[in-house]
Amino acid sequence: SPFFYRQLYSSSNPASFGVAFDIDGVLLRGSNPIGGSPRALKRFYDASGTLKVPYVFLTNGGGVPESKRAKELGSLLDVNILPLQVIQGHSPFKQLVRRFENELVVAVGKGEPAEVMSEYGFKDVLSIDEYASYFDNIDPLAQYKKWTDKQDGNQSSKSKHIALSNDPCSQRVAAVFVASDSVDWSRDIQVLCDILRTGGLPGKEIAHQPPLFFANDDLAYQALFPSERLGMGAFRIAVESVFNAIHPAALKYTSYGKPNPSVFKNAETVLMHVLQSCHNNNQVDGRKQLFKTLYMIGDNPSVDIKGARQAGSPWFSILTRTGVFKGKENHDDFPADLVVDTVEEAVDYILSKEC
Ligand code: G3P
Ligand code: MG
Repeated sequence: SPFFYRQLYSSSNPASFGVAFDIDGVLLRGSNPIGGSPRALKRFYDASGTLKVPYVFLTNGGGVPESKRAKELGSLLDVNILPLQVIQGHSPFKQLVRRFENELVVAVGKGEPAEVMSEYGFKDVLSIDEYASYFDNIDPLAQYKKWTDKQDGNQSSKSKHIALSNDPCSQRVAAVFVASDSVDWSRDIQVLCDILRTGGLPGKEIAHQPPLFFANDDLAYQALFPSERLGMGAFRIAVESVFNAIHPAALKYTSYGKPNPSVFKNAETVLMHVLQSCHNNNQVDGRKQLFKTLYMIGDNPSVDIKGARQAGSPWFSILTRTGVFKGKENHDDFPADLVVDTVEEAVDYILSKEC
């Protein structure tokens, strides 16, 4: 309504709230919209399709660049999404560009992990698929993996990288980034152990472990199957247990994503930019503006709700029952400020409270 719009954006009372949506288990299961999500998001736009409420997607998922994810989400959820509004588990990796700018790094996970890293500015990055293809017999089980056509050495991707730099087999891997869920745990655990225990030179002597980064540490997440699926945190446990059993020094790693407080701090900054873009960048002074309430709508108590609670004011947590959490009341260990059935109910609550 015009009143709503005025209340949000008048210069005397600038937008006082913003919203962060978790994706898996809140807006989507697999690629299916759930909980009335397209209808719920539409309420944040006016009749001409202009964004009225600053909101972001705050997901631990990933595997495609933010610009591409914005387009994919836009067509699944039937709204116009800016790349700026998409914060994925691996988004913080871009802060590490300077440190590894011209060194070889390996990117792991489903989708296009190397493209994700290239878009962040990493100059010499190989997906683990491509990296493994340079080493004959690195995966003794490859011949049994009927789903892959990589057994022949993947000539096309080989030539692509050789044109760019040295032979990857003799080039030290400076860091490994697990950007999204591992597709082939057995191959990835093998190759990661090879890289990590040799200082980045598989097949060579034991040496100091290169840095290892994970985009999130989710033990489980909600996809299409009725019960939750093993996530990157489960893969991390597998890598860590195997590595610690074969290597004298314990695995060192850093995990990003929710529930880390820095993710929520960053989301607040991004929401401010989204608010500014709602105003064509000229009506809101980002240095003065403070949100009164930021709503986190999530399905995973130990990730979304724990994170919002730890982040403290101005975060307000809303737990839906469409994903990991399926309880009747609130969660015992990480109770949310509000529990609802669906994201549509959450948006109803927010708009009734704010307008
Ligand atoms: O792989 C995705 C999963 O770990 C979490 O996604 O959107 O629920 O944070 P999301
Ligand atoms: Mg989720």
